[in-house]
Amino acid sequence: MLILSIETSCDETAVSLVQATGEFPHASYEILGDALWSQIDIHREYGGVFPSAGKREHIATIVPLLEKAIKESGLEPVESTPTLTAEEETTLKEMLVREPSLANQLLTFFKEHGRYSIDLIAVTTGPGLEPALWVGVNFTKALAKLWNVPVVPVNHMEGHILASIFDIDRDDKLADIAFPALALLISGGHTELIFMKDWGYYEKIGQTVDDAVGEAFDKVARLLGLPYPGGPEISKQAALARKNKLPEFASLPAPMIDSGDLNFSFSGLKTAVRYAVANRELSTNDVAAIARDFEDVVAEVLTKKTIAAVAQHNIKTVVVGGGVSANQHIKRILEATLLIEHPDVTAYFPPPGLSTDNSVMIALAGHAHQDAALSPEGAKLLTAEGNKKHRRIPLGEKII
Ligand code: KG4
Ligand code: ZN
Repeated sequence: MLILSIETSCDETAVSLVQATGEFPHASYEILGDALWSQIDIHREYGGVFPSAGKREHIATIVPLLEKAIKESGLEPVESTPTLTAEEETTLKEMLVREPSLANQLLTFFKEHGRYSIDLIAVTTGPGLEPALWVGVNFTKALAKLWNVPVVPVNHMEGHILASIFDIDRDDKLADIAFPALALLISGGHTELIFMKDWGYYEKIGQTVDDAVGEAFDKVARLLGLPYPGGPEISKQAALARKNKLPEFASLPAPMIDSGDLNFSFSGLKTAVRYAVANRELSTNDVAAIARDFEDVVAEVLTKKTIAAVAQHNIKTVVVGGGVSANQHIKRILEATLLIEHPDVTAYFPPPGLSTDNSVMIALAGHAHQDAALSPEGAKLLTAEGNKKHRRIPLGEKII
């Protein structure tokens, strides 16, 4: 089964072509083409994701990315002289009425290349930033109609779960995980614990009551004068502080660590950093030390709640996913604690390159749900399930 996957939920535009051989979850997946454009440079000047700029960028890049992924795959069109009736062209323009430049790009692409023989298009329909999601969803609807291909809507968070167990043994397969499993999903928009009875049976058993953990990394980085996205920057500084054994800069609280439930809070921690650095000239060592102090508390809270969930729910596998799962300190602490307290539990972290948003994970989730695929006609009813206000750090707004 040849799957085309499309991801536009936040600040990465991504298109992949993935060949799935066999049945989910035992299939092997060959990535034939993978094209991704990160908007980080555009959002950096705002200090976070700025929705209208993000939407514009998705519109500008999605067709070139489709072209790139197809070229990389070596896939040939099924007809050399594509034709489109005036009526079909009008329908297409109507479908992309809110993104007229996208309609024009798609028509030009079609006139040059025509139809491709794809079995399924998988598209992220949520959660995410709503204006961004709509670009991918509307584009997919139009493409599905043009190529006459069924569409499967994909939940972005399930994509992160699958990315974290993909190709771990370098065999192009998903790891054969034992259930019940627990997913710790940590990204710029989410911090949640998901109980997984089996594939497709998910229950949210914990979540942040305020900021997402990635958001906290980004905001603290901003307080320390480090660029967006803050996660990797904080992480680098923290590693430096550990290497140089810098003394503690501030004793930071671990919010909700003893709340007795599986929820998280990161807003208070960010505020504590804000007070700790207020009216102070920070030396480079101070920046490194406070980044380390912050990262230590985050790792402690995430680990404590994850371990509690493992014990409460008789968990056999922990799957850590989302952009923050790239953090090596969190990985070390969580793995070391699991090894001591639950040595039989296996923990999975995403392979390099698949922790932050990508479209390979959307193809994997699309394959899992191929039975729920909609016909090109049915796909017209697809909607984006996102948050209009989801911005990590809104422009000009105070960050506490
Ligand atoms: O999953 P993702 O790419 O996008 C969302 O779905 O939100 O996650 C992006 C988030 C950002 O907040 C970024 O700062 C954080 O992941 N991140 C990290 C690291 N790499 C990315 N946070 C901590 N440590 C890292 N190494
Ligand atoms: Zn994500």
